[in-house]
Amino acid sequence: MKKRILTGDRPTGRLHLGHYVGSLKNRAALQDEYDLFVMMANVQALTDNFDNPQKIRDSIAEVVKDNLAVGVDPKKATIFVQSQVPEIAELTIFFLNLVSLSRLKLNPTVKDEMRQKGFGDEVPVGFLIYPISQAADILFLKADLVPVGEDQNPMIEQSREIARRFNSLYGSVFPEPKGLIGDVGRLVGMDGQAKMSKSLDNAIYLSDSSDEVKRKVMSMYTDPKRIRPTDPGTVEGNPVFVYHDAFNENKGEVEDLKDRYRNGKVGDVEVKEKLFVALEGFLAPIRERRVQISDSDVADILEEGLKRVKPVARETIEEVRAAMKLPDFS
Ligand code: TRP
Repeated sequence: MKKRILTGDRPTGRLHLGHYVGSLKNRAALQDEYDLFVMMANVQALTDNFDNPQKIRDSIAEVVKDNLAVGVDPKKATIFVQSQVPEIAELTIFFLNLVSLSRLKLNPTVKDEMRQKGFGDEVPVGFLIYPISQAADILFLKADLVPVGEDQNPMIEQSREIARRFNSLYGSVFPEPKGLIGDVGRLVGMDGQAKMSKSLDNAIYLSDSSDEVKRKVMSMYTDPKRIRPTDPGTVEGNPVFVYHDAFNENKGEVEDLKDRYRNGKVGDVEVKEKLFVALEGFLAPIRERRVQISDSDVADILEEGLKRVKPVARETIEEVRAAMKLPDFS
C-alpha cells in the first residue's frame, strides 16, 4: 500500500504563488509516489469567516480549479470537502480533551493571526482551536506526509503531540505525521512583508491575468535604500530577487542581474521586466489549463472524492470509538 499525503486549502479566495511554492508544487510532484488527498478546508475557513459563508462556498470551486491547473490529477488524487466528512468534527471533539488552553495559545501562527485580525480576548473559540481541528484533518486519514508552507509547521507539531497523547491513553491508533515544507517555505509578499497572503492583499494569484501580473510586478517593493539605478543595491531578501530565484528558470540571467544590481549597473525596471517574463512563462500554461475546467467538472471530482474518502473516515472513527470504549450498537 502506498503511503498517504493529506493537505488542504482554506477556500477563502483563489490561491496564489505562496500556496504554490509552499505546498501545491509538492502535491503535483508526489502524486505518483503517494496516495494524495487534498481537502477543501471549508469548516476551518469558517472559523474566521463565519459571517461570510457565501464567500467560502463560492471559493471551493476556485480552489479546486487552482489545484487542477497546477497539475494535481483527479485520477490520482482524492479531492474532497471537509464539511462532507463529519467524522473529522467528531474526532475534533475527542481531541479537545488532549490539549490545554495554554498549549494552544503558544502556537505562533495562531498568535500572529490573532494579532492580525485584532481579536484580542474576544477570540472566537472555534478559531482558537483550529489547530486541533487541523490535527483531526490529518489524523483521520492517518497521513504520513503533509506538504505545507512553513507557517503551518506548528500545526503539524500539534498533530504529532495529539497523536502521541491519544496513543498513550487509548492504544496505538495514529501514526505521527511528518511535515514537508516547500523549497521556498515562505514567499515574501510583493510589498516586502514576510508572507504573501490574501488578507494582506500582497499576492499574485495563479489565475491573475497577464495585465494584472505586469501591474503587480512593476509596482513591487525592492531595495528602499536604492534611489538611482547607479546606486549599489541589496539582493538578499529583496522581493524581486526572491521571486527571480523561485520562478526564473534562466539561472544565468538571474546571476547576471544580481551581479549588476549589486554594482549599480541595472535599473529596477529591467529587473522587474525580466521577472514578469519569467512569471508569465510559468503562469500562462496554468491559466490556460484553468479556463478549460468547468464547474460541473469540479462537482464530479468532489463527488468522486467524497466516495473515496468516506470509507477511510468510517474505518478510523470506528477504531477510535472502540479504543475510547464508546458503546457501539451497530
Ligand atoms: N491551515 C491550512 C492553511 O491555512 C489549511 C489546512 C486545513 C490544512 N487543514 C489542513 C493543511 C490539513 C494541511 C493539512 O493553508
